Amino acid sequence: MREAELRRDLGRLGPQGFLEKYLVDADHLIRDILHAFGVKLPPDFDKVQDINFLSLLRIYLAREFNKREKLSHVITFDDVVTVLGQARKVIVITGAGISTSLGIPDFRSENGIYSRLEKYHLSDPQELFDIHLFRQDPSIFYDFCKELVPEDRGYSATHAFIRVLQDRGILLRQYTQNIDDIESTAGILDDKLIQCHGSFKTATCLTCHRQSPGHVIFPEIKAGRIPKCQTCLKLQDNAPKRKGKKKLDWDDQDSDSESEMMSHGVMKPDITFFGEQLDTKFKDQILQDRNEADLVLCIGTSLRVAPVAEIPNMMPKSVPQVFISREPAGKEYVFDVELLGACDEVVRQLAHAVGWSAALDDLVKLGKSTPAVAAQKSSEVK
Ligand code: OAD
Repeated sequence: MREAELRRDLGRLGPQGFLEKYLVDADHLIRDILHAFGVKLPPDFDKVQDINFLSLLRIYLAREFNKREKLSHVITFDDVVTVLGQARKVIVITGAGISTSLGIPDFRSENGIYSRLEKYHLSDPQELFDIHLFRQDPSIFYDFCKELVPEDRGYSATHAFIRVLQDRGILLRQYTQNIDDIESTAGILDDKLIQCHGSFKTATCLTCHRQSPGHVIFPEIKAGRIPKCQTCLKLQDNAPKRKGKKKLDWDDQDSDSESEMMSHGVMKPDITFFGEQLDTKFKDQILQDRNEADLVLCIGTSLRVAPVAEIPNMMPKSVPQVFISREPAGKEYVFDVELLGACDEVVRQLAHAVGWSAALDDLVKLGKSTPAVAAQKSSEVK
C-alpha cells in the first residue's frame, strides 16, 4: 500500500467508502493501513488485537478527510505580503520561538528547557509543569525556575512586529503560549492578548488563594528558595501547637494529605500547569475570533500542546494561514505557506515588503534602549 494511493482513495471515497474498500473488500490489516499512512504505533502494540485499532483509524481518516486544502492564491512569499497588506483582522499565534533571540530558551529544541532536566529524573519532561507534582514537591519546579523568571530584556523584533499590527489597527488577537509576559513590555493591550498558559505577571497562594503581583516572588525564586505566602506563614507561626505533633503538621483544614502539607502556603506563579484548566477566556474568545479573522500567522511554536495547537484546524478553511518558525509544522497541519528561518528575520522581511519597516525599526530601537519604558513610549510611535 502506498501512502499517495491511500490518500487519493480517501479523498475519492470518503472515510466510509475507504473502510469498505480496504477492510471489507481487500481485507487489509488496520495496523498496516495506519503504518502506510505514517502513523507510528508503539512496538508493544504488536500484541494488541487488530480490531482494537478501528476507532483510531476512523478518527485518523475523519481528520485527514476534513483537512483544509491550501489556498490557490497564497503560495509564495509575495502572496503572503499581499494578504498581509490586505488583512484587517489578524490572529497571531505565538510560542517560545519568539523570545529565544532575547536569550530565553524554548522547550523542545535541541538545547531547549526539556533537554536539560535529566537531574530531576522525571518520567516526562513536561512533568516540570505538572500541577500534581508541584503540589507534592514544589522544589523541583523552583529549582529550575530561576532560569524562567522574567528579566527586563526588552522585546524581540517579532514582538515589535505584532505591536505594529496592533498600531495599524489590524491585530484581532494575539494568542500566546508564552509565560514571560514580554507582550506587555512590547505594549500589546490586554484586550488584544490572550495568555493561553497564564504568565508570571501574578502569583497565587495554593492555600489561601491570595493573589500578588508576580514580581513579589522573583527575589525568593532567584535566591533558590520556595516563595511562601506571608499571610499563611504568619497564621502558621501563631497557630497553637498540638501535643505530639510537629509544627509542620499544623493546619486548620480538614485534609492532612502529604501533598497539601508539602505545598502549604506555597506561592505558585499563575502559569497554567498540565492538569489545570485553561482560563475560560481562551475558549470564549477563540470561538468568536475564528469567525472574524481574515489571516492567521503562527510564529515560533511547535504546535505540540492543545488547545492552542488546535486553533489552525478550527479556522474556516478560506482564511489564509502562514507558519513562521525554524522547523516545519507537523504533518497534521496544512499551512498555505511556511516561511522557515529565524522569525525576527522573517518578520523584518515581511515588514519591509509591506512598507512597515520604519514603524518596526522604531519599535525595535525603543525595545533595545530602554526596555522598561519602551511600552509606554511606543504608543507615540506610529
Ligand atoms: P517549543 O519549544 O515546543 O517550540 C518552539 C518552536 O520555535 C520550535 O519549533 C523552534 O524550532 C522554534 N524556534 C525557536 N527559536 C526560534 C527563532 N528564533 N525563530 C523561529 N523559530 C524558532 O515551544 P512552544 O511551542 O511555545 O507550556 O511550546 C508550547 C508549550 O509547551 C509551552 O507553552 C509550555 C510547553 O510545555 C507551559 O509553559 C505550560
